[in-house]
Amino acid sequence: MKITSSKTVKNPRVRECFDLGWKFFKGEVAGGELPDFADANWRDLDLPHDWSIEGPFRQAPGSATSAHLPTGIGWYRKYFRVPKSYALKTVVIEFDGVYQNSEVWINGHYLGKRPYGYIGFHYNLSPYLNFGGGNVIAVKVDNSLQPNCRWYSGSGIYRHTWLLVTNRVHVSYWGTFVTTPEISGKSAVVRSVTEIRNDTKSNAYCVLTTMLLDMDGKIVQTSKQIGEITTGQEQELVQEIKINSPHLWSPEDPYLYVLRTEVKRGPGLMDVHETPFGIRTAVFDADKGFLLNGKQVKLHGVCLHHEAGAVGAAVPERVWERRLQLLKEMGCNSIRTSHNPYAPEFMDLCDKMGFLVMDEIFDEWKEAKPQTPDFGYRLYFDEWAEKDVIDFVHRDRNHPSVILWSAGNEVVDQVAPAGPQTLKKLIDIFHREDPTRLVTVGCDRIVGEPEAVSQEFLDLLDVVGYNYVDRWRERWELYYSIDRHAYPQRKFIGTENGSMGGIRGDYSWLFPTATGLTSRNSHDKWTDFQQMWKFVRVNDYVAGDYMWTGIDYLGECRWPAKGNTAGILDTCGFKKDSYYFCQSQWTDKPMVHLLPHWNWQGKEGEVIPVLCYTNCDCVELFVNGRSMGVQGYWFPRYGMQGHYENHLPRNNAPRTTLDLFLRWTVPYQSGVLKAVGYKDGKAIVIEEIATTGEPAAISLTADRVELTAGCLDVAHVTVTIGDEQGKVVPVADNEITFEIQGPGKIIGLDNGNPVSHEDFNGNRRKTFNGMCLAVIQSTFEAGKITLAASSPGLKSSSLTIINSNRCNQATALYSCVNYTKQLKRK
Ligand code: GAL
Repeated sequence: MKITSSKTVKNPRVRECFDLGWKFFKGEVAGGELPDFADANWRDLDLPHDWSIEGPFRQAPGSATSAHLPTGIGWYRKYFRVPKSYALKTVVIEFDGVYQNSEVWINGHYLGKRPYGYIGFHYNLSPYLNFGGGNVIAVKVDNSLQPNCRWYSGSGIYRHTWLLVTNRVHVSYWGTFVTTPEISGKSAVVRSVTEIRNDTKSNAYCVLTTMLLDMDGKIVQTSKQIGEITTGQEQELVQEIKINSPHLWSPEDPYLYVLRTEVKRGPGLMDVHETPFGIRTAVFDADKGFLLNGKQVKLHGVCLHHEAGAVGAAVPERVWERRLQLLKEMGCNSIRTSHNPYAPEFMDLCDKMGFLVMDEIFDEWKEAKPQTPDFGYRLYFDEWAEKDVIDFVHRDRNHPSVILWSAGNEVVDQVAPAGPQTLKKLIDIFHREDPTRLVTVGCDRIVGEPEAVSQEFLDLLDVVGYNYVDRWRERWELYYSIDRHAYPQRKFIGTENGSMGGIRGDYSWLFPTATGLTSRNSHDKWTDFQQMWKFVRVNDYVAGDYMWTGIDYLGECRWPAKGNTAGILDTCGFKKDSYYFCQSQWTDKPMVHLLPHWNWQGKEGEVIPVLCYTNCDCVELFVNGRSMGVQGYWFPRYGMQGHYENHLPRNNAPRTTLDLFLRWTVPYQSGVLKAVGYKDGKAIVIEEIATTGEPAAISLTADRVELTAGCLDVAHVTVTIGDEQGKVVPVADNEITFEIQGPGKIIGLDNGNPVSHEDFNGNRRKTFNGMCLAVIQSTFEAGKITLAASSPGLKSSSLTIINSNRCNQATALYSCVNYTKQLKRK
């Protein structure tokens, strides 16, 4: 996935990471914006920074939305020098996200405020800088109005900051828009709209050269155009470039081109700007659902939230990359950025890794939600919504991964008299800023609701987003069907539905009578999800579905829980059983997964259920070598159209429901539970789980043993507790103490337990159902990092990670050179 350039052009544009060397104070201060304010006692830190995740957890009224973590006000300041030569340039500071209500000053001059904490924004610093001298930037962050968000937001400058330096004649900020109006197998037309800005005192005659580079950096096609840019103005230049045999972008083959824009004024090169893009068609169709490059693709979607457990809202790129890799392995091909804009690097990962994105901007419009009665986005909607949508679309519209905009989620405006008017205003902005993509809203008031969304509202949507059709479980035929008949031209998508969620390693739901659970919290809930998924799969007109959620998240909980366990991965990114259910439905590589674990001390002889998720035709189960029989599926699993309910079992087997999983009841016997999966009559996959002995030893494994020094890389170290033979003990909860040496630090410890109130920081963590996680970040010196883990009564373990001096493409978001330069300046 490497994009290089065929010729090296000295780029007059410089974009430096601005994250290092900030001062921080938690609380309100008077005069914090003044250049000579005494901040020597403030804490030194590097961005991104989320002060909420530093804790402690404390139960307080309303604090459940923010995971019972602190919010409040914080101040940041940074001193920096700019060279004299920058006096002739345009210098811009970029913030990828500050939660929330940020206000920014440079050398005491007020630059502005930005209420929405999820939006990226920038300010022109040029008029106020001391060129050749020192400067101070001050940022006030006010997250004190609570609750203002229905989930954990984090607090602070929690995304990256950048300093962008360009010539006075340059490509405007977010100033390119690449579309592909015509694509056939043989050729494609790439249309680029380039906005050039002229900050000089005279009109500028410019030559714009636009080059299309393939993934090897080779120039495929070039186009030139001349334009006169009026002083103090911007001007758009439009070019259409035809290329032969385009390499199409898709989740299986996420091929990216680069549009390189060069601007010359006379002989002088003014700017070079690169925009990665992909060539693909993305069409929503009333009958066929969703088509990518002309082929029907069912969206196997998950909703996510923007934070990542132990690291809070300040998520290193590698944390997302690992999470997305896990989702990809599960067969997920689509992400809904519920319910707000995500970090730019997340969007880049989706392009590079091949995910289809429903890019969502708001959870609230003009009407308050019950969880945010006073301080939600509605406070800012009238003044800021248009600007936020424009910036959101301009930032994300070149991503091939983005296939659909979502203007909102379950907004109360659905049922408000002015709702259609508000929706129309938003949709018009989306269409104006990006005429190539459709717009949806996640609606939860469509059918069967006492207070239903108006027809006028739904008619305005390009694609109608249905949230929680699975809740009509007693009348399952309502799943979309009534509306399909009533509105045959409607385009349908399941914007949000339940999943199987639950707590990793917890099987109380499987034994409802023993644990006092009612059947509704037991496996029936999963059955709803399965029935709904089955429906989506066999009905072409539903584009796909997004389960709530792909990963557990912080907030939206009730004390003592600090987070929500709807995910199929826990907050550590560890797989729950439901992960394998989805994998069995969404992938073809033969797999078998058994549950529960096989450590039921005291249950010898008791008849217990054993469940199996598989994509094999059938599976034979053995307990200590004795066959418990073969179970299989009775109807075609993929590509089936029409009414599956007419497909009766092929024999008289006692299966009455058309489950998407297999189930046996077996007398529990400690030892080994084994499943053999068959496809086309051949045994092709075996899964075994065994009863273990007592906890005896710690084991550490890292997802990467070499990190890139100075590039904010991370390693995820999985800690498991094994018995004497090294088998993972599924119920172990031993507390681990960590010690780290060398150029690395622990930036988060977690175990996925939703009711644990242990610090995410520090050096101790209990394991939860046999596992916990340490996230290790490199510092700037190359060398060896050693992580040691110990616990009373257990054999200790340690692991070495090399912090190299290499900056590789995977982490090339940051330039080592820039970091090193900043480090020297510090
Ligand atoms: C949905 C909502 C999500 C989340 C979920 C919890 O209705 O859209 O944001 O709150 O419920 O189950």
